[in-house]
Amino acid sequence: MVISKILLSFLLLAVLSLAFPMHADGREYTHTLAAGSRWGKGRSSNITNTVNKTSTLALELGSRPGKCSGRPKLYRKAWHTLTATERKAYIDAELCMMKLPARLTSINPAVRNLFDDMQAVHQIQSDHIHSSGHFLPFHRYHMWAHETLLREACGYTGAQPFWEEQQDAGKFALSPIFSPETGFGSATGTGEDSCVSDGPFAGMMLSVGPGYSNQFHCLSREVNETASLMSAKVNVDACLQLPTFGKSWPCIENLPHRGGHNGVMGEMSNAVSSPGDPLFYLHHTYIDKLWWEWQSQDLNSRLTQIAGMTTSRKPATGWVLATLNDTLTLHGLVRDLRISELMDIQSDLLCYDYVL
Ligand SMILES: *[C@@H]1O[C@H](CO)[C@@H](O)[C@H](O)[C@H]1NC(C)=O
Ligand SMILES: *[C@@H]1O[C@H](CO)[C@@H](O)[C@H](O)[C@H]1NC(C)=O
Ligand SMILES: *[C@@H]1O[C@H](CO)[C@@H](O)[C@H](O)[C@H]1NC(C)=O
Ligand SMILES: *[C@@H]1O[C@H](CO)[C@@H](O)[C@H](O)[C@H]1NC(C)=O
Repeated sequence: MVISKILLSFLLLAVLSLAFPMHADGREYTHTLAAGSRWGKGRSSNITNTVNKTSTLALELGSRPGKCSGRPKLYRKAWHTLTATERKAYIDAELCMMKLPARLTSINPAVRNLFDDMQAVHQIQSDHIHSSGHFLPFHRYHMWAHETLLREACGYTGAQPFWEEQQDAGKFALSPIFSPETGFGSATGTGEDSCVSDGPFAGMMLSVGPGYSNQFHCLSREVNETASLMSAKVNVDACLQLPTFGKSWPCIENLPHRGGHNGVMGEMSNAVSSPGDPLFYLHHTYIDKLWWEWQSQDLNSRLTQIAGMTTSRKPATGWVLATLNDTLTLHGLVRDLRISELMDIQSDLLCYDYVL
């Protein structure tokens, strides 16, 4: 009863926010985020604070010897190319995360396990990490931490897979990723709340979210193929051919990124608490791959391009430009990193690549 009242108010807020025109500074979007409702359109920026190539940070990046020389690179592959054994190993590792003790009860008393911790660090920073210059770097960091924890805490030996969404645009429901036998369970749940009721996460209850609240609620999905069309190849191609980070990032955030979230709906469409759906990590790894594909077209300049602001909403003290020197945090789940350390996926630290 309580939960359906809460859901109803979210729906109302979502409808209201859709009915309002978007302001250039993204205030309505921020409001939508605060309400924990559906993904809105992100604020774009025409400021490209590209780092002067002779700056200390750029030198640090450019002078690093070798590529990923310390240990074998992890090759991240598309889910539909994994063998049944590889798929099972990944799902088993995710289920393991859900059984390990929580570490971050101090930032959110609702967390029950390590999987919840990963959701909580996203929830608590939601206002900074969307519609801001930190969007792509933060989510690269979050995916890398997820991969690292699966391996270090759960003995997973593979790489973080991704969901090749453009090939499923307009027909998400038919994707092998939603197989109840070898995937994440059906694209649409059952009952009034569309609770996921088949596959490895059948009956899963979340205690973090929805949105900024912490209410016990089921993992839900309700596929929307109109929204999934935002993930279409034509959109991806358009974003990847934009010439600067300041143009490409908002395009990626507004089109393929929203396509994955709003195409799956349910928890995935909640901008704040979407990491409650284990599918989130395959979606955002795909978004990271798109950023890397964009970077790869001109590594000389694109390993040092950042743009936009540090927040999605203007702070009382005024906007702050995002820089490569900004520090991102996951509250100790893995160490804090500067954005400069997240720019090159082939660095000794990150050390992964995408199998295209
Ligand atoms: C870029 O920003 C400047 C300064 O805020 C503004 O004058 C200009 O119209 C903007 N250009 C575009 C293409 O939005
Ligand atoms: C970059 O920095 C160097 C050293 O501080 C300076 O000499 C040069 O003029 C700068 N270049 C640009 C394009 O700002
Ligand atoms: C499905 O997505 C489209 C496009 O985002 C949206 O206009 C529509 O309202 C959504 N349908 C439902 C039932 O949410
Ligand atoms: C980066 O930030 C640190 C503090 O966080 C500061 O000490 C340092 O001078 C900064 N470096 C550059 C190149 O701006």
